[in-house]
Amino acid sequence: MPTDSTPRHILVTSALPYANGPIHLGHLVEYIQTDIWVRFQKLQGHHCTYVCADDAHGTPIMLNAQKLGITPEQLIAQTDKEHRADFAGFLIEFDNYHSTHSNENRELAEYIYQQLQTKGYIVSRTIQRPYDDSKQMFLPDRFIKGECPRCGAADQYGDSCEVCHATYSPSELKNPRSTLSGTTPSNKDTTQFFFELGKLETQLRQWTKAGTLQPAIAHKLEEWFMVGLQDWEISRDAPYWGFEIPAAPGKYFYVWLDAPIGYMASFKNLCAKRQDLKFADYWNADSRHEVYHFIGKDIAYFHTLFWPAMLHAAGFRMPSAVYCHGFLTVNGLKMSKSRGTFIKARTYLDHLNPEYLRYYFAAKLGNEIDDLDLNLEDFTQRVNADLVGKVVNIASRCAMFINKYFDNQLCPVTGETLLLSQFSHALPLIADDYAQRAFSSAIRRIMALADSANQYIDAQKPWALIKQSDQTAKVQQICSVGLNLFRILIGALKPVLPALCSQAESFLNITPLTWNDLSRPLGPHRINEFTSLLSRIEPAKVTAMVDASKEDLAPSSTPGQTPRPESEPLKAEISIDDFGKIDLRIAKIISASHVEGADKLLQLSVDLGEGTLRNIFAGIRSAYDPKTLEGRFTVVVANLAPRKMKFGLSEGMVLAAGPGGKDLWILSPDSGAQPGMRVK
Ligand code: MSP
Ligand code: ZN
Repeated sequence: MPTDSTPRHILVTSALPYANGPIHLGHLVEYIQTDIWVRFQKLQGHHCTYVCADDAHGTPIMLNAQKLGITPEQLIAQTDKEHRADFAGFLIEFDNYHSTHSNENRELAEYIYQQLQTKGYIVSRTIQRPYDDSKQMFLPDRFIKGECPRCGAADQYGDSCEVCHATYSPSELKNPRSTLSGTTPSNKDTTQFFFELGKLETQLRQWTKAGTLQPAIAHKLEEWFMVGLQDWEISRDAPYWGFEIPAAPGKYFYVWLDAPIGYMASFKNLCAKRQDLKFADYWNADSRHEVYHFIGKDIAYFHTLFWPAMLHAAGFRMPSAVYCHGFLTVNGLKMSKSRGTFIKARTYLDHLNPEYLRYYFAAKLGNEIDDLDLNLEDFTQRVNADLVGKVVNIASRCAMFINKYFDNQLCPVTGETLLLSQFSHALPLIADDYAQRAFSSAIRRIMALADSANQYIDAQKPWALIKQSDQTAKVQQICSVGLNLFRILIGALKPVLPALCSQAESFLNITPLTWNDLSRPLGPHRINEFTSLLSRIEPAKVTAMVDASKEDLAPSSTPGQTPRPESEPLKAEISIDDFGKIDLRIAKIISASHVEGADKLLQLSVDLGEGTLRNIFAGIRSAYDPKTLEGRFTVVVANLAPRKMKFGLSEGMVLAAGPGGKDLWILSPDSGAQPGMRVK
């Protein structure tokens, strides 16, 4: 869609993750893809709203809760917390995150169902379903295993064969057994409700043509139309975890009926909190606003047939488009627990910066449904080469001179019009790539610009010119050009790397960049002192992450039960006199180094003012590269009795917060505080 100046109203969703397992790197392909797209639209000045929710219903959640000895409500509450924390960790910025087990969703699901019923799209029919007599429940296809009716492979699920890819119904399996009890399922009569999808074929075909479906998905739909649209069974028998169907005791909505309605429910929940958003503006049949769903290709059937059909039949608008992506492989293979490549979001965050992965996925994502591979070596090499070696390098090379010789002052960039115009000409192309979800192409263009910027600096050799007293003005000019180019690059990367960009904005001393700002260079302007913006990926950390993912197999890490250090209970109250006993001081870290034989500790020498040096061992090695600490100011407990440790005497304590591992942050005073000052 062209990027003109009238702000658009766009509602965006990602698929709702199941509430019975942790977020892993495969999921993150989707949430990162969507988040980048949403951030881009917002940067363009559009009214873009991004909602999601946990998909909290269905048999697996019910059984998982049983196994853990908790209620489904407890399980989904726990998972909700974990999912939110994982998404926040990866800088996925939802405008709202809700649950399908919510009042809004119950009301909407009942409303839509009643509309379908009134308009004659629902029939009830008695069918036979596999039944586990010992557990007294009907069995979902995935809970029956047996031999494939086509190729005879053993241990195949009730719906499809992983060996020959045949699809079939559970009654066709040879020697079927219930995975819950191991017994042979019987067939039992049951009356269920069906949605007559076939009645909506014409409208669906029209939508397929009007909506911007990807070619591969349009092709799939064509196949599905050819085979013929089957009635869809939308109810399940008790015991089931979901919404009971009104006026049908013991019957529940099948999880996939209320799951997509969860998109609307989350939005409705947001509308109640936000004056500027009206539910009807986005969902009424005549809405002019845009609605986009980002999903994985495995759930295309639900989103391109059932969902638009339900919406249309119930009198709502259909989606503007459904955008599918492919599946993630790691090192060329399906994610695997034994190889340590089934990597949970949390495990990744324990070891690595989320923006590394955001960048890598962006660099590999196109707008088609091809699978994408996370090759861990390539990941390390590419992030280090592109982000640290190319982009951040421009800033550090130029800032050095501006900080040291020019009192942080940039001069207007009048000279290098050719280079600057190369950059501003590329911007609309990059914007177009983002809009089309051709992120890999956007990244290629941005990195080509970064190469040009580095070549410019290489050719100008400011480090040589600075030695000639008549060339200093030239050095200021070169570095001002360099930093202006850096500003454009970082702005263009903002949807992908929001945290890096915000650090760069503080360094450049500018207000948050919007897309429109990028084509105008900075005038005379004062920047701040350069501090390291991004460190290289250490291959050892990647290895540690893979090793920790192997450990994740240990039985103690049952999904939904991982203990979290994040909310420590508050300690008992103390008096102001107690507090007065603690002597907290601002300290300057003079030197920091690894300690031979101690994998958690850094040895710090800190200045407590007037040259009082103290030796402190701090357990922050997992979070800090010692070199980055030197020169920093922090807060220490100065009157803690010295402690003799294996490695020497520790004469104080550095204060740090966070759960541990990489997530540990030492405290920094605001600028102005000086070593030796008492913290009161
Ligand atoms: N709960 C359903 C979606 C309901 S939407 C109304 C579901 N949940 S899921 O947790 O299994 O998957 C959530 C999303 O993550 C889906 O779009 C799915 O395609 C995507 N992915 C899950 N594993 C993935 C990979 N390995 N690779 C890429 N995407 C993957 O489906
Ligand atoms: Zn088979």
